[in-house]
Amino acid sequence: MIVTPQPSGFGATVTGVDLSRPLLPDDLAAIRTAWATHAVLSFPDQPLTLDEQEALTLQFGDFGEDPFIKPLPGRPHILELRREADETAPNFGAGWHSDWSFQAQPPAATILHGKVIPPMGGDTLFADCAAAYESLSPAFQRLCDGLTALHSAKLPYGRDGVYANESTRRTMTIITGAAAEAVQAHPLVRVHPVTGRRALYCSPVYTIGIEGMTRDEGYAILGHLFQRITLPQFLFRHHWAPDTLLIWDNRCTLHFAEGGYDGHLRVMHRTTVAGEAVAGVA
Ligand code: SIN
Repeated sequence: MIVTPQPSGFGATVTGVDLSRPLLPDDLAAIRTAWATHAVLSFPDQPLTLDEQEALTLQFGDFGEDPFIKPLPGRPHILELRREADETAPNFGAGWHSDWSFQAQPPAATILHGKVIPPMGGDTLFADCAAAYESLSPAFQRLCDGLTALHSAKLPYGRDGVYANESTRRTMTIITGAAAEAVQAHPLVRVHPVTGRRALYCSPVYTIGIEGMTRDEGYAILGHLFQRITLPQFLFRHHWAPDTLLIWDNRCTLHFAEGGYDGHLRVMHRTTVAGEAVAGVA
């Protein structure tokens, strides 16, 4: 197995391994190490079936809970991210986020398998939230270390959320409602359970404020952090090919699904790996 990191160290390509079979213990350990070190792993040329993607996911941990998107029939743990060629609704995932960060124990990993890839557009962008944290001044780091952020699914999935108010047809079945309006507090700075590295844990899609602060105060800090996290030097652009599989670490990254492929079908299969409670700075 060969792990080829990006020059920045954020993101890596992994070749010489067959993900359709149970991984050898040494290979699984090496992938886990690479995942913790590089945060986003790309495995080209992995033509997996649905059964094989499920089996691969379970080698990393239990399935995560996917609350607001109807899964594939008979496959409660696989979401099909599908946008038809004639669809005009904005593409799913087109906002910076870490998957399901409004959960008490958000998924540690997301596994995304490219099935039908459009000839243009449709890249997935990743932001390195650990490097962004490390770029802050020591005084601002200390401020952030002590703060608690409030996460909720309400902006996209709530009764008045983006998906509840759509007027154009969408192929994916998205479930909106009051359940999405619950609020979950997490430390604003997350300590990675494997590397011990600190990362900013907040996103424009799911973070709605800072505990104990007014909306304006919270957004003044969050706005600065969102701007910092998405600076070009912290980004990695993944350009898809069919049968590429990505595994990313939701604990220290944000991602953004880029559009730009109107007129072309795009189909991805997504599973998540259950995670742990969010650990803050002690
Ligand atoms: C997502 O999981 O947010 C979507 C990623 C993508 O479709 O590229």
